[in-house]
Order: sequence, then C-alpha cells, then structure tokens
Amino acid sequence: MESSTSHSSPLSRRQFVGAAGLAGMGMFAANSMQAAEGSPAPTSTGLFDVPRNSKGEYGLPPLPYAYDALEPHIDAETMRLHHDIHFEGYRTGLNKAIAKMTEFRQKGEFPEISYWENQLAFNGAGYNLHTVFFENMAPAGTTEPSAAVDKILADAFGSRKAFQEQFSAASKAVQGSGWGILGYQPFGKRLVILQAEKHQNLTQWAVIPILALDVWEHAYYLKYQNKRGDYITNWWKVVNWDNVEQRLEAAMKVT
Ligand SMILES: [Fe+2]
Repeated sequence: MESSTSHSSPLSRRQFVGAAGLAGMGMFAANSMQAAEGSPAPTSTGLFDVPRNSKGEYGLPPLPYAYDALEPHIDAETMRLHHDIHFEGYRTGLNKAIAKMTEFRQKGEFPEISYWENQLAFNGAGYNLHTVFFENMAPAGTTEPSAAVDKILADAFGSRKAFQEQFSAASKAVQGSGWGILGYQPFGKRLVILQAEKHQNLTQWAVIPILALDVWEHAYYLKYQNKRGDYITNWWKVVNWDNVEQRLEAAMKVT
C-alpha cells in the first residue's frame, strides 16, 4: 500500500508531538494523526487537531491512510490531487490571508478588506472542512457504526437510515460546489444536517461565535438610517466585555 507520509514508525500522537517539539522551531508539529500501517481505522484525538508551526501558520495534515486505500470507491489519483493540490491550496491561501490581516492591523489600514475577508473565509472554511473530510474516511470494511453512534443518530433523526437518507438528499441537492455537513449546534445542543453551497460565504466552519455585531438594517436603521459606521462606533460603547470573556474562556476549552 502506497503511503502518503514519510512517517513509518508507529509513534503515538503524544510521543510524536513530543518528538516534533524537540525537532526544532520553525518545523510544523505534525500533531494530527499519522498513518500507521496495518491500523484498521485512524481516529483523531481532537476536533481541531491540526499542524501549526512556531509562527502559528497552518500545516497540511497528512492523509491518515494511503492514497489508494479507498480504492475502488475513490481512486488514488483523485485522492492525490484532492489532498496534495486542492487541500494544500486552501492551506497556503489561509496562511496568506492571516498574514495580510496581521500586516493591515500593524499599519492601521485595511485596504481591500472585503477581498481579504473573503479569502480568509474561503480558505479557512476549505481548510477546516477538508481536515474533517479526510479524517472522516477509512478503507471500506474497516469500520461500522457502533451502537452508541446508532443511538445518537436515532435520537436526533429517528434512525441512522433516516439520517443517511436526509444527508444524502441534502448533499445531492447542493447547487454547484459545496458540502453536506452533519454538525453539532451548541446553542440548541442538537445535531443538524446542513447544506453549504458556498463555503466561502464569509464564514469559517467550526468557528464558535464569541462577539457578534448585527449590521442588518433592522438593527440600526430607525436611529442611524444609512450611517452604519456611526452605529458601529457607538455599539462598541455597549459591548459586555464580561460576557465576551466568559464566552472566550468556554470556547477556548474546546479541543
Ligand atoms: Fe475538496
């Protein structure tokens, strides 16, 4: 079986992170799971467990199985292009957008901010969703739904079969490019199936909202009419920073 990574020793994640930490600054800590030959079904140890280097730049999570491991259902060449070219493109685009934002903040000027926010969202969403997508797959026949998964899906959707039918229908009905996504909604503590027809719509999937400013006209038009900037300036005077801190603390505990 062709391996997509150069790592061959079966280090545990903890051992590997430690080894990577000792390997020197500037290297990406490959703290996402690595392919372990012979292991039937790779599992992630964290929801947002992606490689970062000492500057905080994102690395490319290695494919957790060989390029041809999903044959004949998904061919090796598709996997190679998808992971090594497309996923890599999102990674570099995300790092570039973050660097641009840093540069803008340092200068105190935000030229072409809408373009760069769109780049941040498009590439950030692509990076996050592809990380989940590649980890969500394993060679055919190596895993099956446990009783626990069946129960969770049955509680949420009636049955796993019903979940799969709705998920398939939603995914099939995506107009153009996009995703079908099973997600957990913290506010309602419920599972939801979502169509993401354009993941670049100025959001990054998996982001937990901390501080939200409503700039729909209904939020300010009676008082401010078309002066959205004045509304934003004054909105900062009524922000509840205690609540922001509570939300930050809670969100930053999610791993
Ligand atoms: Fe993709």
